[in-house]
Amino acid sequence: MRHELVEKNVVWLGILIVVAIAFGGVAEIVPLLFQQSATRPAAGLPMRTPLEVAGRDVYIREGCYNCHSQMVRALKEEVLRYGARSTVGESVWDHPFQWGSKRTGPDLARVGGRYSDEWHRIHLLDPRSVVPESNMPGYPWLAERFVDGGEVQAMMKALRRVGVPFADADIDAAPAAVGRKTQMDALIAFLQSLREPRAPTTASAELLP
Ligand code: HEC
Repeated sequence: MRHELVEKNVVWLGILIVVAIAFGGVAEIVPLLFQQSATRPAAGLPMRTPLEVAGRDVYIREGCYNCHSQMVRALKEEVLRYGARSTVGESVWDHPFQWGSKRTGPDLARVGGRYSDEWHRIHLLDPRSVVPESNMPGYPWLAERFVDGGEVQAMMKALRRVGVPFADADIDAAPAAVGRKTQMDALIAFLQSLREPRAPTTASAELLP
């Protein structure tokens, strides 16, 4: 009887639908806030250097995420192609994270170390000079613009406010660390830093007999 009342009264139906959906959302989201694996940095996750922080900003500014994801899914073919699957703990210091879902180009979560800096430089200047069938645009202006040390400091302070534990000394030293580097240098440093974090443990030694 009561069910019939709900089915015939659109206001009650609407209210109860909202309650049911909200409950589902809360049940999915709230546990994540307390799950340490989702809020703690992955073991061995390195802090970004000031140059990498600047490079990450260039990556976002130029919209590289429109064609590239940074998340290796837990699927066999992805792991075979890109490397170890991504974990949430890798991204806890990334604000905003760059997981993405659009893959016009390959995933970049494990691209660090796959190519030399020089390869990246040539590829970013003119992608078709190394991959003839590429439809990636070139970014030649990055080689002519310099990284602004003051801006990097401001970015590091902003990141610290949302939980990235940069020390005062790191922030003070940032302008000297980026020196007269170009935005191209910064972007390449960022790309080379994209790799699986490795825990500094003796785990592999423990596995030995
Ligand atoms: C219009 C889409 C598009 C945009 C925008 C784009 N890329 Fe690409 N990217 C591609 C495609 C397609 C490839 C594969 C062909 C190639 O290597 O050029 C690629 C390849 C790459 C590779 C080599 C990856 C590998 O594993 O071989 C890197 C590194 C890269 N892009 C970085 C960037 C960066 C950094 C930016 C932003 C400055 C960017 N891309 C913007 C489409 C794009």
